[in-house]
Amino acid sequence: MHASVTYHVSPITATLIRPERLGCCTCGRRHLLGASSALFSCPSPTPTDVIERFHAQRPDWYEEFYARSMDQDMRSYEAQISGYKEKLFSHLIGKSKNLLELGVGTGPNFKYYAGAADDLNIIGADPNKQMEKYARDAAIVAGIPPASFSFIRGVGEALPAADNSMDAIIGTLVLCSVKDVYLSLKEVKRVLKPGGLYLFILHVAAPDGTLLRSVQAALDPLQQLVADGCHLTRETGKQISEAGFSSLNLNMTFLSNVTLISPHVYGIAFK
Ligand SMILES: C[S@@+](CC[C@H](N)C(=O)[O-])C[C@H]1O[C@@H](n2cnc3c(N)ncnc32)[C@H](O)[C@@H]1O
Repeated sequence: MHASVTYHVSPITATLIRPERLGCCTCGRRHLLGASSALFSCPSPTPTDVIERFHAQRPDWYEEFYARSMDQDMRSYEAQISGYKEKLFSHLIGKSKNLLELGVGTGPNFKYYAGAADDLNIIGADPNKQMEKYARDAAIVAGIPPASFSFIRGVGEALPAADNSMDAIIGTLVLCSVKDVYLSLKEVKRVLKPGGLYLFILHVAAPDGTLLRSVQAALDPLQQLVADGCHLTRETGKQISEAGFSSLNLNMTFLSNVTLISPHVYGIAFK
């Protein structure tokens, strides 16, 4: 028996979809202040409305195409990044019971969770529902009991978890793909317990003025098309440093086999 895919977090979602949390009216219309409230009454957004706002539903074939290519085409990348992941995830050992992986994808990180805690409770949030079967298989291969893992269709901009509820949040290669990096980082801080860890590995834009940066800029629109909204030119490391975490360890590396998505920043931020 494993946890259900459906939203079992409706009270949380109700909190998440407060208009003031999202910065404007969640019905998607921009109302004029004042007069608008008398003229319109906004329907309560459902969890699907919230996801749709940040990650419009793709056709099934596209979601499956992307999920399968993440599963099959990232193997040499995963081999190259494994040393970094081993070190980073060792910070989970023994103290992280409640984990949320944002943009969990096909679950390539589960094998690094092993020592996190005896009775793990893992939420994998991703807007692409086709990722679930791959993530579940990866969890089983990693020895995570099915009951310890819930896949929830959700987005980083409205994480499906309560305030101060998670010991750790993990996000690898995700802030390149979310619609709103600022809001996603705000959500990470909301959901982490005080002192909780945010572990990240991200690809970011090459330094300004380099040939690689120009190539990334030229290929960015194509990358967004074929890689489900992934941006090549984001300066996400800078955004993490400006997000107001209580402390931050941030490092940069260039990976030889994946030039286009180099450099990477990786590290830990503490709430
Ligand atoms: C490049 S993949 C990385 C997946 C996985 N974290 C990994 O390291 O292989 C990007 C993932 O982010 C998900 N994603 C896209 N938009 C998102 C959003 N707004 N919030 C959370 N995840 C999102 C995609 O569905 C996809 O699974």
